[in-house]
Amino acid sequence: MTKTPAQTLQSDLLDWYDRHRRILPWRALPGAPADPYAVWLSEIMLQQTTVATVKGYFARFLARWPTVADLAAAPLDDVLTEWAGLGYYARARNLHKCANAVVERHGGRFPSEEAALLALPGIGRYTAAAVAAIAFDRQATVVDGNVERVISRLHAIQDPLPDSRPEIYRRAAEITPVRRAGDFAQAMMDLGATVCTPRNPSCMVCPWSAHCAARIAGIAGELPHKKDKKPRPTRYGMAFWLEREGVGGREVLLRRRPEEGLLGGMMEIPSSPWTEDDAADGWSHAPAQVAWEAVDEPVIHVFTHFRLELDVMRGAMLGRGPVDGVWARLDRLKDYALPTVMTKVVKAARGKA
Ligand code: ADE
Repeated sequence: MTKTPAQTLQSDLLDWYDRHRRILPWRALPGAPADPYAVWLSEIMLQQTTVATVKGYFARFLARWPTVADLAAAPLDDVLTEWAGLGYYARARNLHKCANAVVERHGGRFPSEEAALLALPGIGRYTAAAVAAIAFDRQATVVDGNVERVISRLHAIQDPLPDSRPEIYRRAAEITPVRRAGDFAQAMMDLGATVCTPRNPSCMVCPWSAHCAARIAGIAGELPHKKDKKPRPTRYGMAFWLEREGVGGREVLLRRRPEEGLLGGMMEIPSSPWTEDDAADGWSHAPAQVAWEAVDEPVIHVFTHFRLELDVMRGAMLGRGPVDGVWARLDRLKDYALPTVMTKVVKAARGKA
């Protein structure tokens, strides 16, 4: 029987995957069943950062909380601390909420249907499809950034992202196989990561080379087009590093950020509001009236929607006057859920590059 074009694409890619699949800690070995908890956890983490960074976080989470029930039972603060550095802490809160929902609604077992997965906290269209396909071998279409690039090239889609997303999804759906949909999705991701790379794709070794409209037209490296993004605005603020001599050693003042909003519920070096007005008065937000000394260079941190410049002030409390926040031992700072921007402030204040 001759194959349909979709079947040819499927078998060419799955054959390639069987030979070239990356070995990743959350990936089941060929023929072995996947652990839905590990798949879910890794997919949430991979939305934040690279495979290389996720490996360490994934191993620590799984060692500390081997099952979804263990994660659900953990104090939220422990989860946030373990997540610290991955960024976008609303995801960590939702991770914890989702673990609890899986325990309460589904008796501690992830559901296998996309719709039931989609109803869980923090699980959007991408994650629902990824877990359904990778953990349960359901026929679900999984589209991430790598898949967008691969499909854009396969069909030489000229419309820029994000306008082209509906077409990309349709094109991906029409080739999603009934069986091995999870392998198929991961094969496209691996292809995007190792062969169909953003610049200088290695079309010579691509299993889809013969079918790829962009390769045939000689424009693979130029696709996908992207609409111009608005430049990120800069916000400014001041951070106040306040030390004192505590009973057990040097201490620094930390404060918990409000639950709502950016870095909600994370600990911070007390800072003024971050505003686009670089002449805003930060001093009125100082936690104490002491002799502040400015650190030479501001701390720069880039968030999704803005770039932040924080002037760091250093001061010492001599008395034990009342201040808002918690005093943290300098040698115990690792135990606090400090987001990356705040670990930069710590380094700047302590004079470490
Ligand atoms: N990126 C996100 N999820 C992935 C997965 N399951 N395999 C490879 N790369 C990925």
